[in-house]
Amino acid sequence: MISVILGSQWGDEAKGKLTDLYAANADLVVRFQGGNNAGHTIVVGDETFKLRLLPSGVVQGRDVVLGNGMVIDPSILMEELGELTARSVPVGNISISDRAHVILPYHRQEDAILEELKGALKAGTTGKGIGPCYADKVSRIGIRFADLIDPQAFKEKLDTAYAIKEALFSSLGHDMTVSKQEIVREYSEYARILAPYVTDTSYLITSYHQQGKRILLEGAQGTHLDIDHGIYPYNTSSNTICGGACTGAGIPPHSIGRVLGIVKAYTTRVGTGPVPTELHDAQGRHLADKGHEFGTVTGRPRRCGWLDLMLVSYAHRLNHFDGIFVTKLDVLCGLEAVKVCVGYEHNGESLATFPSNMRVLSEVTPVYTEFPGWDFDCATIVAGGFDALPDAAKDYLKFIENELDIPLYGFSIGPKRSETITFRDIF
Ligand code: GDP
Ligand code: IMO
Ligand code: MG
Repeated sequence: MISVILGSQWGDEAKGKLTDLYAANADLVVRFQGGNNAGHTIVVGDETFKLRLLPSGVVQGRDVVLGNGMVIDPSILMEELGELTARSVPVGNISISDRAHVILPYHRQEDAILEELKGALKAGTTGKGIGPCYADKVSRIGIRFADLIDPQAFKEKLDTAYAIKEALFSSLGHDMTVSKQEIVREYSEYARILAPYVTDTSYLITSYHQQGKRILLEGAQGTHLDIDHGIYPYNTSSNTICGGACTGAGIPPHSIGRVLGIVKAYTTRVGTGPVPTELHDAQGRHLADKGHEFGTVTGRPRRCGWLDLMLVSYAHRLNHFDGIFVTKLDVLCGLEAVKVCVGYEHNGESLATFPSNMRVLSEVTPVYTEFPGWDFDCATIVAGGFDALPDAAKDYLKFIENELDIPLYGFSIGPKRSETITFRDIF
């Protein structure tokens, strides 16, 4: 069976933590899009892992795949593999898709140049070269792992791409910061080390599937960062939704058995663009401080606001969640009242769907349902589960479940595996 874990908002919903948890019952865990713009945090006992490229199942020792839909910076992958070895984490088989694209130094440089030029339209990227690498893929001047490990193909493709970038950067007043010779030297070494991991991962995933094994697909970013459906142009450059799982892993749509949407109990956003429920007051500071809302990759403060069900219901339309998992419920403890956005009004009219026009989105007035606040002691909830929650917190979870009409698969009240209360497995 193939199950998919996806973010329903703007990323950082705790997908990594849930992937690690559900990986306990999986045979294979797959990333299918994005690159090291992702930062997935897993806490095991006193140890914290912050994964950028490796699927979160790696901490459970599962076999893992970096799928064809990913853009992979080999230097970061080497770092991650080195860190796991240094921390004596026993890893399973690691496979990298031969069709995944390689991030090169000029992609990172281009990311910085373009952000600077975009002014108010910049997304506030992670600066990791993600957008330029995907742009090269679509322009058909990208370099895939199949090319990286074939010296002749690598030379031919790098010659062409480098010349194009050199002309482009020079027209914008920039020299290339890394020479072609340096790239060849550095990347030939990556190719030598990583070649044994490179394979046709679509074939591999299909063979696990045919053997009746359990496969978990781990989304990166969130639905509203999707290149087609997210808040364009403040989004990322890949398809983060369930459809992206098919193209990015190389599997047919009907092979997907279950889709779990991760819903943070409030809203966060790292980067620019409209956030209708954003709070600029003491309540926003409460969420940021109590939730430690700083970007895993860049350390930037995350913008915080009330839970926005307009975001989550649009995400449900795109992904069809079989279940939702509400995370970080503990962060709402200690507030006098808690609000949930259930609709948007614009010019006095209620909007039926999520707006595509960013000016409209920046002008909407959220319609809120308000709940009394609550407090709880986490140890009591770890011991007693849902029944031990105060009534107000139970009502909050039930409201989300009823309003979206999606079964609640569990909720969490802390970063650890033990602080995550699951009602159902996803296999
Ligand atoms: P991802 O990108 O979706 O995997 O999420 P991140 O790891 O970037 O961000 C989630 C953050 O919240 C991490 O620091 C987690 O350790 C932390 N976290 C996860 N679940 C909970 C929870 O239920 N409560 C609290 N307080 N923190 C949590
Ligand atoms: P995880 O997987 C939150 C945001 C960036 C920026 C926009 C484009 O940890 O949830 P990019 O570098 O992708 O070109 O940046 O997307 N962004 C994320 N925000 N969580 C992430 O990943 C993100 N990955 C990218 O802040 O606004
Ligand atoms: Mg993250």
